Amino acid sequence: MKAATATAGWPVLFTTILLWSLTTAARANETTYRDIAPLLASQCIVCHSGEAAAAGLRLDSYDAILKGSSRGPVVDTTRAEDSELIRRIKGISQPRMPMTGPPYLTENEIASLERWVAGGLKKGKTLPQTPAPQGLPAPADGEPLTYRHVAPVFAKRCAKCHSDQGIMGGPPEGYRLNSYASTVSASDRARVVPGHPKASELVRRIRGQSRPRMPFDGPPYLDDDEIRLIEDWIAQGARDSNGEPSPIPAGARVRLHGTLGPGRQLDGLSLIIGSRTRIDKNPRPGDYVQVRGRLDKAGNVQVERLRRR
Ligand code: HEC
Ligand code: HEC
Repeated sequence: MKAATATAGWPVLFTTILLWSLTTAARANETTYRDIAPLLASQCIVCHSGEAAAAGLRLDSYDAILKGSSRGPVVDTTRAEDSELIRRIKGISQPRMPMTGPPYLTENEIASLERWVAGGLKKGKTLPQTPAPQGLPAPADGEPLTYRHVAPVFAKRCAKCHSDQGIMGGPPEGYRLNSYASTVSASDRARVVPGHPKASELVRRIRGQSRPRMPFDGPPYLDDDEIRLIEDWIAQGARDSNGEPSPIPAGARVRLHGTLGPGRQLDGLSLIIGSRTRIDKNPRPGDYVQVRGRLDKAGNVQVERLRRR
């Protein structure tokens, strides 16, 4: 009898050891904040940190992630795949994150964030201190400026209004500044003319040549370095995150505001005025005016209408 009991005990002991080793292995594999914090630091916190964090969402500490955005929570452990954070990195919710993409996160990176949420948002043993980003990302020597370098400014200072779920309801003037495609889009009119900062209403607005000056809730407005950065990005072709310049949208409409100078120019931008240009209210040098027109292939503004404001 004794011998029988002893042999019957073996499978039990074996199963116990097996289960024990399985759970230990699972614990060793489980994804914690410690594992995913470096990914958030390198891909997200340039926009999701500090007072002006994009969408009011800070991703630079464990507690901040749980707190969520100005629209609500972004992680839900019971329905990980429905969490806004997961939906954004997969592109189910738009604009897809990171806003500088493509490139977006890899399959593995997406899977580990989803595992972390589904696994109950474990903290891990020691929490890494995520250093706050030091200013804007700068291009390496000889590298052109790309959307990657300017997007954090648009994300932190402009997208709270210039987006579908912005604080003013819809995007003002239908203009979205929460993705590359929408920033350079010329579908209704071009606000960015690649290679031509002076013909870009966006530049005129951040410099205050066109009123109201942007950001609309300023001061503070953008500082000189930020303004120069955006001008240079446009002058170098308004490149996407991969360094690909944007073509001049020949034929696109523009609507510019500024001060008329002597010799048919608007704050230094030469205007092409022809016999079919309609000129209203007799504008003179020194007057604040509105210019409507179309871009030619070279990015010059062919004026259709010039009027004093
Ligand atoms: C270049 C700036 C930038 C980067 C980098 C960035 N974001 Fe965003 N993020 C934004 C902006 C701007 C919004 C608001 C966009 C909108 O909804 O119009 C946003 C919105 C979000 C939202 C939605 C919040 C809500 O409640 O609607 C989530 C979640 C999010 N980002 C997560 C991330 C994650 C995760 C990363 C990194 C993988 C990341 N973001 C990288 C700028 C950025
Ligand atoms: C607090 C809300 C708010 C913020 C923040 C904001 N804007 Fe605006 N933006 C507006 C409003 C409102 C208008 C329309 C103003 C008008 O012309 O009457 C506008 C208009 C514009 C226009 C003109 C669009 C067109 O079709 O001609 C541009 C360009 C622009 N904003 C760029 C920016 C940039 C760049 C930033 C960030 C540096 C920014 N805005 C931040 C509210 C905002």
